[in-house]
Amino acid sequence: MNSKNKLDSCIFVVFGATGDLMRRKLISGFFNLHKKNMLPDNFSIIGVGRRDYDDEAFRHEMCLSLDEYTKTKLTKKEIWRKLRAKIYYYKMNFLKKEGYIGLNEYLKKIELDNDTKGNRIFYLSVKPSFFETISFNLNVNGLINRKNKFSRLVIEKPFGRDLFTARKLNKCISKHFNEDEIFRIDHYLAKETVQNIMVLRFANGLFEPLWNNKYIDNIQITAAESIGVGTRAAYYDQFGALRDVVQNHLVQLLSLVAMEPPDSFDSYHIKKRKVKLLESISVYDSEKAASNSVRAQYIKSNKLKDSIGYRYEEGTDNCSMTETYSALTLEIKNDRWDGVPFYIRAGKKLKYHATEIVINFKDTSSKLFSDFNLSNNVLVLRLQPDEGIHLLFNTKKPGNELNIKDVKMDFCHKAVFGINTPEAYERLLLDVIKNDSTLFTRWDEVENAWKIVDPFLKSWEKNKTNLSFYESGSWGPKEADLLIEKNSHKWNIPIYESICRIR
Ligand code: BG6
Repeated sequence: MNSKNKLDSCIFVVFGATGDLMRRKLISGFFNLHKKNMLPDNFSIIGVGRRDYDDEAFRHEMCLSLDEYTKTKLTKKEIWRKLRAKIYYYKMNFLKKEGYIGLNEYLKKIELDNDTKGNRIFYLSVKPSFFETISFNLNVNGLINRKNKFSRLVIEKPFGRDLFTARKLNKCISKHFNEDEIFRIDHYLAKETVQNIMVLRFANGLFEPLWNNKYIDNIQITAAESIGVGTRAAYYDQFGALRDVVQNHLVQLLSLVAMEPPDSFDSYHIKKRKVKLLESISVYDSEKAASNSVRAQYIKSNKLKDSIGYRYEEGTDNCSMTETYSALTLEIKNDRWDGVPFYIRAGKKLKYHATEIVINFKDTSSKLFSDFNLSNNVLVLRLQPDEGIHLLFNTKKPGNELNIKDVKMDFCHKAVFGINTPEAYERLLLDVIKNDSTLFTRWDEVENAWKIVDPFLKSWEKNKTNLSFYESGSWGPKEADLLIEKNSHKWNIPIYESICRIR
């Protein structure tokens, strides 16, 4: 049974529809939902952009994108034929009032033709500098419907450039949309393994009793990408790794791993706990921020064919000081986590693609084994690729003598549940339509995340030359190793080989 019948009819207006996100993620999200019969019966998608397309050209572009990016190639033409009839294109300049007046008229016509009841979802897949202008214009030009209808605003990250600009942006958007109408996207929250963090922690009596500073030595969160900036250099060069990935995705992961158990699984209670946790992360002064962080940029590798440094990527400034890697040590001041360092790192052009949360346990083994060189237990939550969970523990090697070896116990999501888990964006699009904000970030989460990250930005700003470099294809700069060696810790190397061979 699907929940389709409960879904309200609506129109989904995507600003920036000719951009990368629509082609890579959103259209396949819509397509998969349509294929599973999970979109409302009366539903339309309006792509809004500055390019000179008509409906047919836009539909063709979407079809090509689906062929290129969707995991389930567009073989079932009939399915696409039905979806394509719901897709339209409207060309406008986001900065001009007349554009919005025209768009409103256009939407009214589509709404009449498709009986979408005046319910409108506006998705801003545009440069952050357009967020304020678009939300302002939607309101003053009468595009926001409320009486017996709904209007929602979906906004992509980054939400501001720092605490100050985020507050300013929020203040502006809040003049036009209520908090419960705003859906701030952090697509990591919709990843299967991320949602599994709470289940792992709270549905298993085994882990939660150990989830504290008595048993845990340090926690590491790594988001390693092997790709570079690709076609997004113009955006990325203005933002860098800390704003692009750490302030949002990684701080969200941290809050889920470290928060106290919520009173219930509903959005309100989960967010309440996450915010409480974020509030207990130390906000450093500038000096402490400098000594607890590393920022770095990738350079060409002599070992990799066709490798180029960040500054030579198309669209970056050739003197750019933007970081493509950042590593931080954070501390949480509460009874559960006092004394446990949280190491967070994110980088592009690293050795391979891996997003992992690693829980390194303390050595609490029995004195019986004090003569043995035992490995500490490690629990790895693998987010991607190949979602899974690994537990490292010690076992006796077969034989007459007592020899101990560490072994890994693997759970592979794909092997157990199959490969048809919904993509993050598919889930998020459906949740906006259903008005379920659990997997979206509330303003106080975003604000607290900026409070934590702001001192690092400020300290880097003060000391502009403090940028390290690392070779493409490596695990980052040596300064990141030194950062945690201060505490006698080492970065865990992400698991390389896929454990997801279907056995
Ligand atoms: C995005 C960042 O939010 O997340 C990108 O802007 C990054 O720079 C991407 O590549 C990573 O997402 P995923 O789902 O591929 O891990």
